[in-house]
Amino acid sequence: MELKENVNLQKLPKHVAIIMDGNGRWAKQKGNQRIFGHKNGVKAVREVTEAAAEIGVQYLTLYAFSTENWNRPKIEIDALMQLLVSTIHSETKTLLKNNVRLMAIGDRESLPLSVQNNLQDSINQTAKNTGLTLVLALSYSSRWEITNAVKKIALAIENKQLSHEDINEQLFSNYLTTKDIPDPELLIRTSGEYRISNFLLWQIAYSELYFTNKLWPDYRKDDFYEAIIDFQNRERRFGKTSEQLSDER
Ligand code: IPE
Ligand code: IPE
Ligand code: MG
Repeated sequence: MELKENVNLQKLPKHVAIIMDGNGRWAKQKGNQRIFGHKNGVKAVREVTEAAAEIGVQYLTLYAFSTENWNRPKIEIDALMQLLVSTIHSETKTLLKNNVRLMAIGDRESLPLSVQNNLQDSINQTAKNTGLTLVLALSYSSRWEITNAVKKIALAIENKQLSHEDINEQLFSNYLTTKDIPDPELLIRTSGEYRISNFLLWQIAYSELYFTNKLWPDYRKDDFYEAIIDFQNRERRFGKTSEQLSDER
C-alpha cells in the first residue's frame, strides 16, 4: 500500500514548515560543488509542493535562505540568488497550473532586485489561486522579524495609533511577516541537524518537531507523507493532561 493512503485526510496539519537542509553535504558526497546540491534541491521543492497540494495541506513554508546565510562565500550567495531567479521564473507556470498561491516572508528589500522583481511577479500572477499557499522564507530570520515587529509597534505607539494596553499575542502576531498565516502544526528539518536556526521562533511555540537524516536533495513525496503520518500519531496536549483530552473527545 502506498504511504499516501495511510495519511488521514481528516487530521491534516493546516500548515507545514520545512527547514530544507543538507544540499552542501549531498553535493560533497558526490564530489561536487555546493551549488550542485542547491540545484538538485529544486526537485525536492517541486515534489514536496506537489505532495502537500495533493493531500490538501493549506500552507507550506520553505526556509530557502536565512539572514545568516548572507555570511556564506559570495560565490555561493550569487549562485543561490541566480538559482532563485531562474527557478521562480520557470516554476510560475506550474504554480498556476496547480492552483498554488506564492507568498514570501523575510527581509525582501535585502534581496537583489532581480530576485525581488521575479518574486513579486510570481506572487502577483498567483495571487488569486485558491489551492495550496506556498510561502518562501527568503532572507528570513526570526529575530530579525521579531525585532522589526517591535519597532513597528513602538512607532505606532509614538504616533498615537496604538496604546501599550492594546498589545497582546494576537496584535503582536499581526506585526510579523507571517500575518494572516496560521502557525505551523508541524516543522520538519532534514539532514540530521537538531536545531531551529532562527526559523519562526514565535510561530512554532506549539509545533510538533520532526527530524530526518535525509539530505534535502533526496527528499521525496513519501518522506513528506511519512512525516505527516508521524504527526498524526502524536497526542497534542497543549498543557492539558491526556485524560482531559479523552474526556473532550
Ligand atoms: C540548505 O543546505 C540550503 C541553504 C541553507 C541555502 P546547506 O547549503 O545548508 O547544506 P549543508 O548543511 O551545508 O549540507
Ligand atoms: C538553515 O540552514 C537555513 C536554511 C535552510 C535556509 P543552515 O544550514 O544555514 O543552518 P545552520 O547554519 O546549519 O544552523
Ligand atoms: Mg545547512
